[in-house]
Amino acid sequence: MADARPFHWEYQPPAVPREVFRVEGGRPLSGTVRVSGAKNAALKLLAAAVLTGERCRLTNVPEIEDVRVMAETLADLGVVVERPEPGVYEVAAGDVDWLFVPLEAAAKMRASFILFGPLLARFGRVIISNPGGDRIGRRPVNLHVDAMRALGAEIEYRNGYYFAKAPGRLRGGEVTFPFVSVMGTENAVLAATLAEGRTVIRPAAQEPEVDDLVAFLQKMGAAVGRTAPDTIVVEGRRRLRGADHHVIPDRIEAGTFVVATAVAGGRVTLEGAPCEFLGSFVEVVGRMGVQVACGRDTIEVEGIPPGEGAYRPIDVETAPYPGFATDLQSPTSVLMTRCAGTSRLHETIYEDRLEWLGELRRMGAAVAILDPHHAEITGPTRLHGADVNISDLRAGASLILGALAAEGTSFIHGGHHVRRGYENIERKFKDLGARIERLPEQVSSTPS
Ligand code: EPU
Repeated sequence: MADARPFHWEYQPPAVPREVFRVEGGRPLSGTVRVSGAKNAALKLLAAAVLTGERCRLTNVPEIEDVRVMAETLADLGVVVERPEPGVYEVAAGDVDWLFVPLEAAAKMRASFILFGPLLARFGRVIISNPGGDRIGRRPVNLHVDAMRALGAEIEYRNGYYFAKAPGRLRGGEVTFPFVSVMGTENAVLAATLAEGRTVIRPAAQEPEVDDLVAFLQKMGAAVGRTAPDTIVVEGRRRLRGADHHVIPDRIEAGTFVVATAVAGGRVTLEGAPCEFLGSFVEVVGRMGVQVACGRDTIEVEGIPPGEGAYRPIDVETAPYPGFATDLQSPTSVLMTRCAGTSRLHETIYEDRLEWLGELRRMGAAVAILDPHHAEITGPTRLHGADVNISDLRAGASLILGALAAEGTSFIHGGHHVRRGYENIERKFKDLGARIERLPEQVSSTPS
C-alpha cells in the first residue's frame, strides 16, 4: 500500500483541546513554591538515554506536555519508556524498531530534533523530519545538520526529511558554529560521544542545561568536558552505559515566579532554586529595585503591590548564557509596566518574540514595538483585566503574570501552550493565594 503519510506541505496539525486561564488579579502573593525540574534539560537527557542499550533513570523530570511528547516519540521508535512514579522516567533503548522521527513529532515540538545526533551515532542512520517545514514557520536546523556533516555523516534532504547515514561510525572532528546554538551544541555533543576520535565544539553554548547534559553523559561513561567556557571536547567511546540522574531546577520557571511576586506584590520563597543558574537576571531585577535574596538553594522575593510604588526602568538585551535569557524577556516585559519611566528591550535571539507585547497592550501596557528586535515600555501603568490570546508558552506565562497584577478579571486564551513548559502553574499560583483557574476553551469568556 502506498505511504499514507502527508507531504510537509499537506500536513495539517491535529486539533488540540484549547484551554483558557481565568485570572482575578490584584491579590499579592505569599508563601513558598518549589521549582520543578528544567524542561530544557529533561528533554535532552531523555534523548541522551538512547545512546546506550542499558537502562537510564531520570528523577525530578517535570510533568509537562513537552516531556510527554518526547516520551511518546521515544516509545513510537520502540524505546521502552516507563514512569514508575510522577517525575521519574526510566528509559531502555536496547534496540529500536524504527529509525524514523516523523513530521507528527517534529510539528508538536522542535526539540524532537535533539534525537538526530544520538540516533545517528548509536545506530548509524536515521530519517528525521525537519521541524522547519514550511507549514510550521521558519525554524532553521542548519547548524545541527552542518555539525553532523562535520562528524562524517552523509545527509540528504528530501520531501521535508533529513536522510542521514554514518558509514561505519561517526568520526570526531572540529565543529565550529557561526554563532552560539543551545540544541546545536547539544546535538553535536551527543553525536560525538560515540564517534571515533576527538571532537572539539566551539563556540559551545554555556547554558546550565548543557552542563547538566554533560554531567549525565559523564555518568554514562562518556569522555566529555569543557576545556574553556565556550569549548567542549569529546573523546568518542565505543559504548556508553546506563546511569541515574536528577534533573537540575528550571531557571526559567524560577525567574517567572520572581517576576510574578515583583508585579503582583507580596513575599514568596522559591525552593530548589539556586540563583547561580539565573545568569544576569537576578542582577537586572535587583537593579530595577526588586528585593531578591539568594540562599544556598532558595530565592526570597519581595514585591511592591501595584499602586503602592514603582520600580526603576531598565534597558535589557537578551544574549546566550550567562547573558540575559531570551526566555525571561517576556516576563521581564511585564515588570517593565511597573517601572517609573521608559524601559527598552532588545531581543537579539529571535525574530518574532516581541509580537506578544500587542496582547500585553490590551491589558493597558504602554508598549511601542519599534521593529522585530526592539520595543519600549513606559510606566508605571496599572494593568486591567482583558481577553488576550497566546501562541507561545513564555508569552502565555507572562500574560498570566500581567493578569495577576491587573485590576479585574482576565481570560488568557490558548492557555494550553503554557502546559508545554510549566508544571502545574495554576496549582502553584493558587497555593500562593492567587485566583486562577484553567478551563476548557468553550467556557464563556465574558467577564461576569
Ligand atoms: N538557529 C539557526 N540555525 C540552527 C539553530 C538555531 O539559525 O540550526 C538560530 C535560531 O533560529 C535562533 C538562534 O539560532 O535565532 C539561537 O537558537 P538556539 O539554537 O540557541 O535555540 P534552541 O536550542 O533551538 C533552546 C531552548 C529555547 C531557548 C533557546 C535560546 C530548548 C528545547 N529550547 O532552543 O527555549 O529560547 O535555546 O536560549 O532547549 C523555551 O523553553 O521556551 C524555548 C524556546
